Amino acid sequence: MDRTTADAHILVSLTYVSCANAMSTKVINELLQHAQKSNVNEAITGMLIFNNDYFLQTIEGSRTAVNRLLHLILADTRHHDIQVLDHREISCREWGQWSMNYATGTQACAAIYLKYSTTAAFNPYLLSAESTRQLMVELSQSQKVSA
Ligand SMILES: Cc1cc2nc3c(=O)[nH]c(=O)nc-3n(C[C@H](O)[C@H](O)[C@H](O)COP(=O)(O)O)c2cc1C
Repeated sequence: MDRTTADAHILVSLTYVSCANAMSTKVINELLQHAQKSNVNEAITGMLIFNNDYFLQTIEGSRTAVNRLLHLILADTRHHDIQVLDHREISCREWGQWSMNYATGTQACAAIYLKYSTTAAFNPYLLSAESTRQLMVELSQSQKVSA
């Protein structure tokens, strides 16, 4: 049996934080476009934040697809110090309509980052799993309002 599709009924969500290696807007846009295209093929959905040189990403999908992507992300030289914040089975997707939703550190959402910062500068390594989820939801909602 094909391992890729056999566990499609087992959905997992994985959230990690990492430090970016010298990212320009162009490189971020290329990364995002590639991710969104590839995620459609792999039935991966999620949310990516890039702020203050940190990445914060949730990927969700079948256990096999999420693990395969995790290995690629771990080997990616565009970031380092990857730390998993949360990994769990889910019954439905939080980001089901997004091949990869994206938010960055715009002025409009500065107050939201501040709300989740325990230090003067935003540092997602200090966030709990639940705070990370709430931050992502708030940023996503604020984008809908300002869109
Ligand atoms: C912060 C970050 C997030 C990424 N997110 C995704 C993603 O959601 N989906 C994806 O396919 N690749 C993502 N990538 C890229 C992968 O690490 C890897 O480069 C890519 O999947 C390789 O694709 P290829 O084998 O087609 O070249 C991400 C990379 C970084 C640095």
